[in-house]
Amino acid sequence: MIGAYHRCVADTVGRFAGFVAKYMGDGVLVYFGYPSAHEDDAERAVRAGLVVIEAVGRLPAPKPVNVRLGVASGLVVVGDLIGKGSAQEQAVVGETPNLAARLQGMAQPATLVIADSTRRQVGGLFDVRDLGQQALKGFPGAARVWQVLGESSIVSRFEALRSRETPLVGRDEELALLLRRWDQAKACEGRVVLLSAEPGIGKSRLVEALRERIAGEPHRWLGYFCSPHHSESALHPIIGQLERAADFERDDGTAAKWRKLALLLAADGAADDMALLSDLLSLPAEPGAAALDLTPQQKKERTFEALLRELEVLARQQPVLMVFEDLHWMDPTSRELLDRVVARVEHLAVLLIATFRPEFQPPWVGQAHVTMLALSRLGRRDGAAPVQRLAASAAALPAEIVDEIVERSDGVPLFLEEVTKVVLEAAAGTAPGAVAAIPGARAAVPATLQASLLARLDRLGPAAREIAQTGAAIGRDFSYDLIAAVVPRNKTKTLAALDRLVAAGLLFRLGAPPAADYQFKHALVQDTAYETLLRGPRQVLHGRIAAAIEAHVSDRAAREPEILAYHLSEAGQFERAAVLWRTAGKQAVRRAANREAISHFQRALALVERQPEATDRWRAELAILTQLAPTMMGVHGWSAPEAGEVVERAAEIGRRLENSPDIAPAIANLWLFNLSRGRIDRAEEISADLFRMARALDDNDILLQAHHSI
Ligand SMILES: Nc1ncnc2c1ncn2[C@@H]1O[C@H](COP(=O)(O)OP(=O)(O)OP(=O)(O)O)[C@@H](O)[C@H]1O
Ligand SMILES: [Mg+2]
Repeated sequence: MIGAYHRCVADTVGRFAGFVAKYMGDGVLVYFGYPSAHEDDAERAVRAGLVVIEAVGRLPAPKPVNVRLGVASGLVVVGDLIGKGSAQEQAVVGETPNLAARLQGMAQPATLVIADSTRRQVGGLFDVRDLGQQALKGFPGAARVWQVLGESSIVSRFEALRSRETPLVGRDEELALLLRRWDQAKACEGRVVLLSAEPGIGKSRLVEALRERIAGEPHRWLGYFCSPHHSESALHPIIGQLERAADFERDDGTAAKWRKLALLLAADGAADDMALLSDLLSLPAEPGAAALDLTPQQKKERTFEALLRELEVLARQQPVLMVFEDLHWMDPTSRELLDRVVARVEHLAVLLIATFRPEFQPPWVGQAHVTMLALSRLGRRDGAAPVQRLAASAAALPAEIVDEIVERSDGVPLFLEEVTKVVLEAAAGTAPGAVAAIPGARAAVPATLQASLLARLDRLGPAAREIAQTGAAIGRDFSYDLIAAVVPRNKTKTLAALDRLVAAGLLFRLGAPPAADYQFKHALVQDTAYETLLRGPRQVLHGRIAAAIEAHVSDRAAREPEILAYHLSEAGQFERAAVLWRTAGKQAVRRAANREAISHFQRALALVERQPEATDRWRAELAILTQLAPTMMGVHGWSAPEAGEVVERAAEIGRRLENSPDIAPAIANLWLFNLSRGRIDRAEEISADLFRMARALDDNDILLQAHHSI
C-alpha cells in the first residue's frame, strides 16, 4: 500500500517538476523551485497538491486513504549532500520546510493548507478559504493560513495575478496606435498587432486599457489565454475560450453543455461544426448526429475550418477584438491555427492582438496588415506615479525612497509595484516618517519576483549562473577584464556564459570583449543572483574581487577607493577596509561630495568600532571623527544634533587619550558646536581646556586654536 502511495505521489510531483526530497514513513517532503526554479513554482506546488489529493483518494485500498498537505514558500539554503546512495539527501536549511510541516499538521484529511507567502504568489489562481491567524508551534506570533478549495474561475493570468490598483501611466502613444488599428479593423481592414515585451512591462495591462476604452462600442471580444502548464495540450486556449463563451458551469450535464454550445454557434446549418466542436470540447456526440469518420489530420483540418467560419460570421455581425495572450506558451496546434487566423483576418472586421515575451519569434512580421509593437519600460517620471499611488493609500513615502524604488525597478511596472509593496509592508507598524530609515541599499527582493528571476537564471545553466553571481558581487556594472580576472574558468567559457546572459536579456553589453562592459539589466536581477550566494562563498568571492581590482585595475582603485573598501569589508578584511573608507571619505571631501564623505567616514567608523577598546583604536576613531565633524557641520549646519553627536563623541575619546596634539581639533570642534548652539558657558570652559593643553604640550598650533576660541 505504502509503495503504491509513494509511486502515486512521485508521479504527480514529477509531472509538475517538483522534487521528492525525502520519504518519512507515510510522509513526503517535496521541493518546487529546487533543483531548478520556474517562475510559477508556487502555482505548481498547489496544483500538484490538488492532484495528489485526488489521485491518492482513488487508490484501491480497504479503507479510503486521505492525505493532508501543507505548502509554504520562502528562501532556503541548500547545503551539501549528506549520506550515501539512496539515503543520500540534500540538507535544506530555513524555516520554510518547518512551516510547511506545521501547516500539514493542521490540515484536515484530504485538504491542502497553504501559508500566506504561498497565497500571495498564487494570487487569484485558486479559490481559497481564510482559516485566519493560527498559532504554530516554533513560530513566533500567529500566521495567516489558507485552505485551497480548487482552481478559480478567473480567466486570465492578468486578472488572477496582477493588479489594476494604479492608473495607467505613460502609454498614450501605444494606446493611440491600438485605437487607430481598431478603427481600421472596424472598416473591414483587419489588423494584427504583435505586442512584445519582457515580463511585467505591461502588455496585458495595455490590452485591458484598450478594452476599457472601447467598452461603450458595440463589438465582440474573444480572449485566448495560453498557460505554461498547457503548452503541450493541443488547442488549450481555443477550448478555454469556447467554454467561457458558451458559459459552461462546473456542474453542467452533457445535455446542458450541448444546448449552450448550440446557442453559441453562429454559423447557420452548421451541424458538422456542432459535431466537430463538441468533439473538441470532449463532449460525447449528440444522439442522431452523423458520426465523424475522419482521420486525425482530416479532423484537425475540419475543426480549423469550423473555427474560422465562426470567426467570419461573428465579424460580419459586429467588429471583433481577438486577444491572444502569452504566445510563448502556445501549443503547436494552436500556433498552426493562429497562422491561418492571421492570414484570414486581413479582410474581416477583426483586430487581433497577440502578446508575448521576447523569446517568442513571431513569423508574421512583414505582412502588410501586421504591426509589431515592442513596449519599453516606463520613463523616470512615469515610473514614480504608480509608486506614489500605491503609497498614497498607506504612508507617504519620502522622495528619496520613491527615487530609489524607481531606480531599482528600472521602470518595469510590475517591479515598481512589487518593490513598493514590500517597502510599504516593512514600513507598516513603524511610526510615520520612519520609512526613511529603511535601509534602501539591499531591501529584500519580493518572493514572486525572485521566483521569476531565479527561473530565468536557472534556465541558462550553472556556468551562466556562476558568472551572474560573480558579476552581482562586483556590482551593477562590471568590465570584462575584471570578471575574467575573478573567475577561475577559461576565457572561452566565461565569454560563452556572458553571451548567454546577454541573449537572455539579463545583462546589457557595451563594446566588444575584451574591451566590453556589462551591466545588469535590472538591479533586481543583480540582487537575486547575489542573494543565492551563501555567506562563506560570498566572503571568499569579495576577497577575490578585491585582489583582482588591486592587481588589474589599480588606477580605478586609486580613483574610487570606496569600491575596494566595499569589497574588503564584505570579505571580512576590516582593518584595511577601514583605512580605505577613510581615504574615500577624504577624497570625497576634496570634491565637495560631503554626503558621500559622511557615509564613507561612517563606514570606516563602524569597522574601527569592531576592534577592542585600546589606545590604537581610539586614535583611529578620533582621527575619523575629527574629519567627520566639519563635514557634518557643512551638510547639516553647525549646531545640528547630528554634528553634536559626533563632536561629543570625539571629545569623549579625546579625554581618554593622553594630552596629545591629535585631540586639539576635536576639542576645537566641540567649542564651535557649543558656541553655535548658544551654550556660551560650555564654550568658555572648552576654550580654557584648549589653553591648558597648549601650555602643557607647549604647542603653538593649539595655542593659535585656543586664541581663535575666545
Ligand atoms: N503603464 C502602466 N501604468 C500603471 N501600471 C502598469 C502599467 N503597465 C503595467 N502596469 C502594472 O504592472 C503589472 C504588470 O503588468 P502586466 O501584467 O500587464 O505585464 P505583462 O507585460 O503582461 O507581463 P507578463 O509577460 O508576465 O504577462 C500589472 O499589475 C499592471 O497593472
Ligand atoms: Mg501578461
